Amino acid sequence: MRKKIIAGNWKMNTDKTSAVALFNDITENYDTYGLHEKKQVVLAPPFPFLNIALDKSADYPYLYVAAQNCSEHDKGAYTGEVSAHMLASVCVKYVLVGHSERRQYFNEGDLLLLEKIKQAQRNEIIPIFCCGEPLEIRMANEHFKFIKAQLDNCIFQLNEEGIKNLVIAYEPIWAIGTGQTASPEQAQEVHAFIREELARHYSKEVADSISILYGGSVNWKNAMDLFGCADIDGGLVGGASLKADEFAEIICSIK
Ligand code: PGA
Repeated sequence: MRKKIIAGNWKMNTDKTSAVALFNDITENYDTYGLHEKKQVVLAPPFPFLNIALDKSADYPYLYVAAQNCSEHDKGAYTGEVSAHMLASVCVKYVLVGHSERRQYFNEGDLLLLEKIKQAQRNEIIPIFCCGEPLEIRMANEHFKFIKAQLDNCIFQLNEEGIKNLVIAYEPIWAIGTGQTASPEQAQEVHAFIREELARHYSKEVADSISILYGGSVNWKNAMDLFGCADIDGGLVGGASLKADEFAEIICSIK
């Protein structure tokens, strides 16, 4: 059985007070989430609040903390950067890599993302690798080709050990923060495609073991239908992860 994951990407939101409150509100209902080794919650707060989340998450098994980014470098004179080693040293378990906002606003490309993934894995942090097409590519019906290139040029450069130690998130850019969710059929079709590509490059066994999350305007209304699809193993949730009640409902939507 593949791991199911509900990840909350807080992006550049909250401050210390609201981050603590959000964390407390999310954990208040912990007992209703039914988490276990194969059903996990991952919270990705901004860097300054990682330690708060880490301290608090210690009381909640299967609730893990992710960083929203890490450096492609090991260490040294890179002012403003945070290394995977630093994150590992405070027990961060996951890191987002290749989010469309990083690709778009910070010019992060395939090779750089591959270096970040390798840094994370060297430090035993699991990368959550994001991919997905912009609207014009979807309109031109070229999304499969686009996503294949994102996979080929980045994570398919990893060996079998590497590919087995990551999570993939399919996030169509036109669905992120827009309220325009991909339909379960649209999402499932791409997830199945990604899994077929994994099987072709590695093996069916490897493909079947990798969790593929959907992201893009997931909310309490659409979560159950999305998570009911055969190849959708959970969600990467932005806006709705900032509302504890709604996030709780999304967590409970996955069986
Ligand atoms: P959204 O963001 O749920 O607000 O669309 C998802 C994401 O960017 O990961």
